[in-house]
Amino acid sequence: MISSALRAGRVRPRPEVEPPVALDRQQLAGALEHVEVVCEAARLILRGLQLHGLPAAAARTDVVGDGAQFAVARPPHRHAGRDAALPTELDEDLRRRIETGATKADGAYYVIPSNSHFDTTEGNVRNNRMVALNLPCREHLEDHKAYPFRGNINLDHLGALLETVADRIPLVYITITNNTGGGQPVSMANIKQARKLTQRYGVPLFFDACRFAENAWFIKHKEEGFANRSIESIVHEMFEHVDGFHISFKKDGLVNIGGAVYLKQGGLFWEKFPHFSELLTDHQILVEGHPTYGGLAGRDLKALVEGLKTIVRDEYLDARIRQVWRFGNKLRSYEIPVNEPIGGHAVYINMDRFFEGVDTRDEDLRGIGFTALLLFGGHRLCELGVYAFGSYKNGREMPPSPRANNVRASVPRLAYEDQDLFALCESIRVLHKHKDRIPGVEVTHGRELNLRHFKSRFRLK
Ligand SMILES: Cc1ncc(COP(=O)(O)O)c(C=O)c1O
Repeated sequence: MISSALRAGRVRPRPEVEPPVALDRQQLAGALEHVEVVCEAARLILRGLQLHGLPAAAARTDVVGDGAQFAVARPPHRHAGRDAALPTELDEDLRRRIETGATKADGAYYVIPSNSHFDTTEGNVRNNRMVALNLPCREHLEDHKAYPFRGNINLDHLGALLETVADRIPLVYITITNNTGGGQPVSMANIKQARKLTQRYGVPLFFDACRFAENAWFIKHKEEGFANRSIESIVHEMFEHVDGFHISFKKDGLVNIGGAVYLKQGGLFWEKFPHFSELLTDHQILVEGHPTYGGLAGRDLKALVEGLKTIVRDEYLDARIRQVWRFGNKLRSYEIPVNEPIGGHAVYINMDRFFEGVDTRDEDLRGIGFTALLLFGGHRLCELGVYAFGSYKNGREMPPSPRANNVRASVPRLAYEDQDLFALCESIRVLHKHKDRIPGVEVTHGRELNLRHFKSRFRLK
């Protein structure tokens, strides 16, 4: 015990002797505060996102990496041998992708549809030898510039797919907002209808929830009937319709690190795959340590609590999204072909339209040449197009299907002023003016690799 005299500073401990280890009140308060923070983070996430009845043990922070966790999940029984024909409403390409995956003896059998998988989610699905299928809505495919919810999942395609191969679909994903095609949101109506459909076929529905608050802001401002609702209440309603979600908190958690997988206890996924939670714990113990070891440091959890409180505030979201719009509108005023309507976290420049009039082919990878030149100007953008989502097969570049060929300018949260973003606009304007002089690139390493855009090396042609 530390004596009262010592605590009062009247007696100094001998320097070579450590004071006896016993928790004094302050230390105890600190320890308790840490526990409180951990609990509060879990509570806030669970309560805030309205996953009723979710046991704390199922809320595992820092199970990072999208979809990898599903490596351990297997539906209880396999397809009984019937190889149902896909309905004609599904286009040829969709059919080819499913069937080529499914007929290989040990090839992909399970299909995970989504409005659009993000690249790493898709990589994880593929890595587990399942087919990642993007089903963006018609308005997205038709480049409908005024449609406010271009992130929606295509309900006709989803319905047709469920009708045909529901027993091969472990779950359906909706990415909110859709980071693959334009950062555009998903409407509440679309979430509800997707829920109805999946429920009818007994298939669980999940969110990739990275930008859940930005999505709620769009619902509030663009969907009829939500104008007077708080963001929090919209978030609650969105999450009532899913059986679980995964999230990278680096986005709408407003933190530097952390992610999580949540399963709704008693939900469809929980009931259909009753051993999943335990398998997930095993996986976590193997790759990270026992859940109580704490995958995230206390300070990161504390930051997450604050992040989640801030992210649902109207004034924060207003400032955030309107800044992205000002940035996008400036580019538009320079006649740069940006994807419209402009989404919540980034501006996407359509490379097919940007290079219109220039004699070029997909193999030239001019989108990467464009980002390379911008890098010289101090701006780091990301190609999310024919290289990131495409593949190299039989000596040929295969573009993604449905086609997406964008370069994305993401706007980090609470980091930049308009002037910074407008400086980027000036660089892009100059490059657009001289687009015929933007070189293509040669891939010097990694063209055929899995997840190639994370690892490749290029040389300007
Ligand atoms: C929709 C979506 N899902 C998943 C991820 C992956 O997040 P992380 O890199 O933190 O695993 C991202 C990253 O941008 C994303 O936008």
